[in-house]
Amino acid sequence: MNVQEMIETARALVVGDRGLLAIDESTGTCNKRFARAGIPQTEEARRAYRDVIVTTPDLGACISGAILYDETIRQKTIGGTPFVKVLTDAGIIPGIKVDLGAKRLAGHPGERITEGLDGLRARLQNYVQMGARFAKWRAVIAVGHGIPSRGCIEANAQALARYAALCQEAGLVPIVEPEVLMAGDHTQERCRVVTEDVLRRVFDQLFVQRVTLEAMILKPNMVLPGLTCSTQETADEVADATVSCLLRVVPAAVPGIAFLSGGQSGELASARLNAMHVRFKAPLSRPPWALTFSFGRAIQRPALEIWGGDDAHRVAAQQALLHRARCNRVALRGEYDAAMEQAGRPEAAGSATVSTRTRGDGAKRVAEP
Ligand code: 13P
Repeated sequence: MNVQEMIETARALVVGDRGLLAIDESTGTCNKRFARAGIPQTEEARRAYRDVIVTTPDLGACISGAILYDETIRQKTIGGTPFVKVLTDAGIIPGIKVDLGAKRLAGHPGERITEGLDGLRARLQNYVQMGARFAKWRAVIAVGHGIPSRGCIEANAQALARYAALCQEAGLVPIVEPEVLMAGDHTQERCRVVTEDVLRRVFDQLFVQRVTLEAMILKPNMVLPGLTCSTQETADEVADATVSCLLRVVPAAVPGIAFLSGGQSGELASARLNAMHVRFKAPLSRPPWALTFSFGRAIQRPALEIWGGDDAHRVAAQQALLHRARCNRVALRGEYDAAMEQAGRPEAAGSATVSTRTRGDGAKRVAEP
């Protein structure tokens, strides 16, 4: 794939009113979620769950790309069709998580470095053969007393940039994901300062490693107060802090920004994304890049709970998944309303006033590791 093809793929992932679906939980993370839901932690159960997700009818209307995991990209539906083919046939671009997880960073208590660069060139070639067209690497930055440290930010920024350069060499669009975690009692302002600092380092390193910004996607956190902070800003305040922070540090050459949900509830993630599209809609305030979603838990959580390991609940689980995907599509148009949650059918509820002004929305916070 040449650079122009990667640029086109990056654009296709973020344009219009579609976003990405992250179903790339590692085996360990998936098993933890299954254990909480009382689902057996077997390879077949993981396959069956992903089968429910990828075969959801009409998913391609809301989802532009799906991020798979090493185990999942090799799997097939019960009828024997590879997941990659099911997705591609539905108009969804397949991608792959390629990092090997965040490990303890030596000399930096409480901080982590994402590993997986060794042997990455060969693994990327393999994933290209399997049909992947983009990749993802997640770095995690914890906020707390005296952290994040310079050592943690710089080590992760450099790893992200080296991963991104290797992806582009292989013809894969890199999704660059530096996640400032929500855990803690820090204020929204502290999250803003840390996020801005981290993104500045990441873009410095992307430049140093000669990454083509036009052929990548940034996957950041929203600028949020810590989960246990006593002040929880409104969706409008989150939207303003997030977009103004990104405007300071993300070059206009980047085609799109696709947010992670980070453990927010599905409803809050949709309301905050919606507020960004309402408040930055006017021609002079519109950001230079597309703003979309790349949610995992904030789209999948209800579907997993409903499915519960039993295919008798397959259709209901798919409806729940599609509902959240549609809520986010509507949010990208700035037309999401909390009333759509009751109606269960976002596009049938019509457009209404966006209810993003109350401070009470913090009450719906859900933290899930
Ligand atoms: P969440 O939306 O659940 O944070 O997952 C997104 C993701 O891809 C994390 O790497």
